[in-house]
Amino acid sequence: MRILSAKDYEQMSRKAADILSAQIILKPDSVLGLATGSSPVGTYQLLIDRYRRGELDFSRCRTVNLDEYVGLDDSSDQSYAYFMRKNLFDQINIDPANTHIPSGINPDTDGECSRYDALIRSLGGIDLQLLGIGNNGHIGFNEPDDCFAKGTHQIRLAEATIQANKRFFAKEEDVPRFAYTMGIRDIMQAGRVLMIASGARKAAIVKEAFFGPVTPRVPASILQLHKDFTLVADEAALSAL
Ligand code: F6R
Repeated sequence: MRILSAKDYEQMSRKAADILSAQIILKPDSVLGLATGSSPVGTYQLLIDRYRRGELDFSRCRTVNLDEYVGLDDSSDQSYAYFMRKNLFDQINIDPANTHIPSGINPDTDGECSRYDALIRSLGGIDLQLLGIGNNGHIGFNEPDDCFAKGTHQIRLAEATIQANKRFFAKEEDVPRFAYTMGIRDIMQAGRVLMIASGARKAAIVKEAFFGPVTPRVPASILQLHKDFTLVADEAALSAL
């Protein structure tokens, strides 16, 4: 486990963008596991800037996103598919056919989960997985549980997650209660894992996840066992250490 400290959100984003850029330059057909939420927006903007300056080429990259809300189709502006198009895909030269996100509207739950796991396998696995961390320690939407879920699965969002994510919706009732998420096995099998964390509201969970016991009650804690895990966090997120 490597911890890189950054002054603030901007510097955290720069360090994360440097790691992602190096991955893309060294392996142009990389399979990138991507996240949504507030944490990666600055990182994605820097990748867009570097693409516009001719420093990055996404034409051979493949991407798999961590998660999607159940019930939202990809045209809904609250869907993670929409978020990814707006914050990254529409602004770089990635082939949309090479971008993958679980389908929030597939009524066949088991079919969607096995389709997504088979897809990750068919791409040869994930080279670099980008993650944020939930206030309750979730990664993707792997919520605190009694055991670590393995593959892609449908999950009922924890109350803490609904509370944290309601800021993206007009009202709390609009937050979907279920989501599809990659499992812990999918994440742990990635060649490299890069987590970004910013702000004082992440300080307690960063300490618990990476300086406490490995337990499914704090899903991110399993990353302590990953062979190539880097946390890039700003001073506020590291302030409890
Ligand atoms: C998003 C995801 C979530 C977020 C986490 C942190 O695809 O999988 O695990 O990374 O909820 O969200 P932010 O970055 O908004 O604090």
